[in-house]
Amino acid sequence: MSRILITGGAGFIGFAVAKALSARGDEVIAFDIARSPRLDAEIAQHKNIEFIQGELTEWPQVVGLVQSRKPDAIIHCAAVVGVTNSLASPIGTFRVNVDGSLNVFEAMRLCGVRRVVNLSSEETYGAFEKDKIDETHPNRPLKPYGISKYAVERLACDYVTAYAMEIINVRTCWVYGPGLPRPRVPKILIDAAATGQKLHLLGGGDFRVDHVYIDDCVSGILKALDKPTHRYDIYHIATGEAPSLSEIVAMIKELVPSADLAIGPGPYKFIDGTEAIRKGALDITRARTELDYQPQFPIKKGLAAYLEATRAGLG
Ligand SMILES: NC(=O)c1ccc[n+]([C@@H]2O[C@H](COP(=O)([O-])OP(=O)(O)OC[C@H]3O[C@@H](n4cnc5c(N)ncnc54)[C@H](O)[C@@H]3O)[C@@H](O)[C@H]2O)c1
Repeated sequence: MSRILITGGAGFIGFAVAKALSARGDEVIAFDIARSPRLDAEIAQHKNIEFIQGELTEWPQVVGLVQSRKPDAIIHCAAVVGVTNSLASPIGTFRVNVDGSLNVFEAMRLCGVRRVVNLSSEETYGAFEKDKIDETHPNRPLKPYGISKYAVERLACDYVTAYAMEIINVRTCWVYGPGLPRPRVPKILIDAAATGQKLHLLGGGDFRVDHVYIDDCVSGILKALDKPTHRYDIYHIATGEAPSLSEIVAMIKELVPSADLAIGPGPYKFIDGTEAIRKGALDITRARTELDYQPQFPIKKGLAAYLEATRAGLG
């Protein structure tokens, strides 16, 4: 049994990781600025999860937390997440994502915590140069979100070299499934299909990205956490496939023949109108080989599971 601190433990991925760690008997400390009814319900059922409300950018809070709880390792999920949010608040994004991560690394250094799994993103690459890329693809992030995530990875390199810390960066992609908080695909499509609402998107049908089901994301994170020693500090946790949004709409209509969904061709735009840059699939050979990561949710299976959860009121 280990004691694991999860920053952003009330968020989409952090909560799912907290649940999985608690289920296998680890002691979980979930740190987050916000409370979550889902996490509160989980805590009511399981004695091995503790919630601590706090602000990642407040150094005394972060160092006090690490000093008092003495975790064996940290899973760092707290962040301002997504291109749209980062454009709305670039300064806030850097404060939380970069300053906040530095607080975590510094607290680890001072308190002797060696390992952190840092949640990173395909946004570190900027526009993909080809349809499927591996971890050696150049990093040329374009928006505050991706730039902040890449800055954290570079800081991590420095901490690893200077202080022999183990900072494992999990670059995941568009994670989806029950609890996804952002109004983007496939959530808006699944919600519309589950509730019988009409949703005709004007464009985006040609956009391709690697959609990762939440359970696969959690499994990859835990494999990175558990591996005794790492040869690499960056892993893709994804599916290795990048279906187009037109293909995803067709799959959902196969699952719900009455769904009134349509999508026009062209690039995808986020809710604020920002056009998504070229993406594609993340090659997962390294994670398969090194971590024995075996994703269980190809897109069709993931969409079916997400739809079922949404119909059950867990979406
Ligand atoms: N969801 C995805 O598709 C995706 C893809 C790639 C990478 N990631 C990365 O995974 C991590 C988790 O993402 P998520 O989808 O769970 O996002 P999320 O927004 O659901 O969770 C982030 C959590 O961090 C907390 N938080 C934000 N600012 C904080 C602060 N100042 N102090 C304390 N807590 C704070 C939020 O309250 C939230 O609960 C992030 O680092 C994100 O960059 C997510």
